[in-house]
Amino acid sequence: MSTSLSPALAAHLPTGLLVGGHWGAATGGRTFEVCDPATEEVLFDVADASPEDARRALGAAHDAAAAWRAVAPRERGEVLRAAYERIVARADDVAALITAECGKPYSEARAEVLYGADFLRWYAEEAVRFPGLVRTAPAGANRQLVHRRPVGPSLLITPWNFPIAMATRKIGPALAAGCTVVVKPAAQTPLTTMLVAEVLRAELEDRGLPAGVVNVVPTSRPADATSPLLTDPRLRKLSFTGSTAVGRTLLAQASGQVLSASMELGGNAPFVVMADADLDAAVEGAMVAKLRNTGQSCVAANRFLVHDSLARPFARRLAERFEALRLGPGAEPGVDLGPLIDAAAVDKVDAFVGDAVARGAQVLTGGERPDGPGSFYRPTVLAGVGPDARVAREEVFGPVAPVIAFTDDDEAIALANDTELGLAAYAYTTSLARAMRLADELEAGMIGINRGMVSDASAPFGGMKQSGLGREGGEAGIEEYLETVYVAL
Ligand code: SIN
Repeated sequence: MSTSLSPALAAHLPTGLLVGGHWGAATGGRTFEVCDPATEEVLFDVADASPEDARRALGAAHDAAAAWRAVAPRERGEVLRAAYERIVARADDVAALITAECGKPYSEARAEVLYGADFLRWYAEEAVRFPGLVRTAPAGANRQLVHRRPVGPSLLITPWNFPIAMATRKIGPALAAGCTVVVKPAAQTPLTTMLVAEVLRAELEDRGLPAGVVNVVPTSRPADATSPLLTDPRLRKLSFTGSTAVGRTLLAQASGQVLSASMELGGNAPFVVMADADLDAAVEGAMVAKLRNTGQSCVAANRFLVHDSLARPFARRLAERFEALRLGPGAEPGVDLGPLIDAAAVDKVDAFVGDAVARGAQVLTGGERPDGPGSFYRPTVLAGVGPDARVAREEVFGPVAPVIAFTDDDEAIALANDTELGLAAYAYTTSLARAMRLADELEAGMIGINRGMVSDASAPFGGMKQSGLGREGGEAGIEEYLETVYVAL
């Protein structure tokens, strides 16, 4: 098991743009630096796509669209399945790359490789299963034929927090449905996505399939590069994972062409601990729900709403667990918690903690950055947080657990739903009746009951309210890349 980049991987890693099956330089040879957030060292210089490069990539996706759509669903599935096998076979290398550019501990990165690869396996299986319908019209005069077609060339904009899983969660269903893609990975972590794209490129080439099915445009100027695509009639679909603020801007731009849009946006997940909860299980679940990827996940628990009778012991035990964690570079053996993605992320987390303290919260542990290089922040538990603190109202995206006490079930549900976001929610209770009430009334697209993690390639991931539109994963994920066509026959 290797926890650092192997020389062979480093030597062969693609760092250019992938357009029409070829890796090449950006216009003018422009590049940008990708850094290791644990050391701040430059890892690689990566091609920096211009708007013109992005248009070339869309041209390649457009040119390959008819041929890819004509490839038998079974073979499209086989391409994805082969890519799944290739990635799992190289899981150590891919994990080391994720740790290097994203910072998460190697064991977490390896878990992400398997989670991410699973989207390719799941959609390899879904490629041959998407439904259609033939029936006699109720009046009996004709038949109705309802079938699905790929929506067409798709722009997939992925975030930096899960560099493989967020890419495969879009590429898998898009390719399975028969769509060609232009992927715009996050500037902080483009390399893992580029490695996945190379695996797919090689598989397509080996089979003599169209070259422009998967195109990749890393760029340090995302708005410049992608805006022209959103007004280009060759583009038919936008799928974005990122903040609600950027999602709103992209939706506005996409409205000009009435583009099909899937949006996986911000979260403000409540983690509710009811009076009858199993406290050991709740603390264990809180560790995962809060600290996966150092809290940098849209589904991370953002607010811990704990019944009055349990609030003190819950906060104290969580603080003890946080204190025992080893913070450090993700490639170092025994490290539990990696850095945040960059210095700006640390500043934001620290400002949220400062705001909560100014409003009367107490720091039970953490609340500071350690000395030394890298964008680290100590895992933090805050007690006595008021519901108006920024840390309770906005997505913190860091290792901070604010604990807010409530007195009865109605108040817990009202507090949990008091947000314009609705991605994930978690609740701990030993009562089936309470569990069912929470499952019915929590305003979130994904609800974990006595579980601190909901993500699964086979389940529909997505939110309600301002957390997004559409679903990724599961049977629902492929629908985002299909049009429904009705033929009266
Ligand atoms: C996200 O943070 O957007 C995704 C997390 C996950 O898939 O579990």
